[in-house]
Amino acid sequence: MINVINLTKSFGHHDAVRSVTFSVGTGETLGLLGPNGAGKTTIMRMITGYLPPTDGKVIINGMEMFDQPDKVKKIIGYLPEHPPLYLDMTVNEYLKYAGQIRGVSNPALSKNIQHVAELCGISDKLGRLTGNLSKGYRQRVGLAQALVHDPEILILDEPTVGLDPRQIIEIRELIRSLGRKRTVILSSHILQEVTSICEKVAIINEGALVACDSIENLSRDLDTGQRIIILVANMGKVDFEQIRALSHTKKIEKISEDKFVIEVEPGHDIREPVSFALAGMGAGLLEMKTETLSLEDIFLKVVTGA
Ligand SMILES: Nc1ncnc2c1ncn2[C@@H]1O[C@H](COP(=O)(O)OP(=O)(O)OP(=O)(O)O)[C@@H](O)[C@H]1O
Ligand SMILES: [Mg+2]
Repeated sequence: MINVINLTKSFGHHDAVRSVTFSVGTGETLGLLGPNGAGKTTIMRMITGYLPPTDGKVIINGMEMFDQPDKVKKIIGYLPEHPPLYLDMTVNEYLKYAGQIRGVSNPALSKNIQHVAELCGISDKLGRLTGNLSKGYRQRVGLAQALVHDPEILILDEPTVGLDPRQIIEIRELIRSLGRKRTVILSSHILQEVTSICEKVAIINEGALVACDSIENLSRDLDTGQRIIILVANMGKVDFEQIRALSHTKKIEKISEDKFVIEVEPGHDIREPVSFALAGMGAGLLEMKTETLSLEDIFLKVVTGA
C-alpha cells in the first residue's frame, strides 16, 4: 500500500510537483499519465526515496520513507527513467550486485537471478557486458534489477520504452501478473498500455494531480453522452423525425449512405427504443455501436480542457 500525501517538490522557484495526494492499494496498479515535464518522474523519485520532498510525505506499507529508508527501500523495486547500469559489469554480476544491496544473498539470490532473467527474456545474456547490450536489452536488465529481490512495491518509470513489439506484449503481461499481489505504479505515454495494465489512473499536469480514479469512473464523470453509430440496410426507410422524437436524443446526423449517428444526453441509453423504432420502419438494422470516452479523450479533456 502506498499513500502519497500532499507531496510537493520545488526546484528553486519552480514547483515541479504541487501538493499531490493519492493512494494505491495492494494488488492495485496505478498508471501515472501526464505530458512531458508534468512531474511524473519527480513523483516516482520521491516515492522511492531518491529525492527528498520539499513538503508532504510518502507512507509505504505503514512506514515513512525518511524515517526508515533502509527498511522501506528493501521492499521497493524501482525502474528509473534511465536504468542505472554499470556498463563494465556482466548482466549476472550486475543483478547479483543489485540483489545484494537489497539484502538478498545466496542461495536465494542465484535462484532469483535465474527467475527474473527468464521473466525479462535475458537468460542468454547473463554473461554479456551490460555496456555491449542494445537499448531494449538494457531496459530489460533495468527491469530485472527492479524485480531481483521480489519486492512488494514496484515503481516503473516508462517500463516498455525502447522494447520491440513482441517484448512490449510480454512485459505488459508480466507487469499485469506481478501487479495481482503487489502494489505497482507505472508511468507511460502509451495510453493503450495504461488502459490494458492499470485499474486506476492518476493524471498529472504541471505538477498537480488533475484526476485520479478508475478509467470507468473518469469516463462517467466526464460523460458528455453516448454516441450511437448505426448501420442500416435501407437508409431511405429511416424516419429521422421519429427517431429525433425519442426521449434523450440530442442530435442525429447522417454520416454516409448507410450510416447515421445519434448523440444521446448523458446518463441515458436509448439503444433499445432505437432498435424497435428502426424495426418498425423496416430500415434493416445491421449494426449498432456505442462510442464511449477513451483514455485519450479523458486525457485531453482534463489536461487541455478540450
Ligand atoms: N533535478 C532537477 N532540477 C531542476 N528541475 C528539475 C529537476 N528534475 C526535474 N525538474 C523539472 O521538474 C519538472 C518535472 O519533471 P519530470 O522529469 O518529473 O517530468 P515527467 O512528467 O517525468 O516528464 P517526461 O514525460 O518527459 O518524462 C520539469 O519542469 C523538470 O524540468
Ligand atoms: Mg519522466
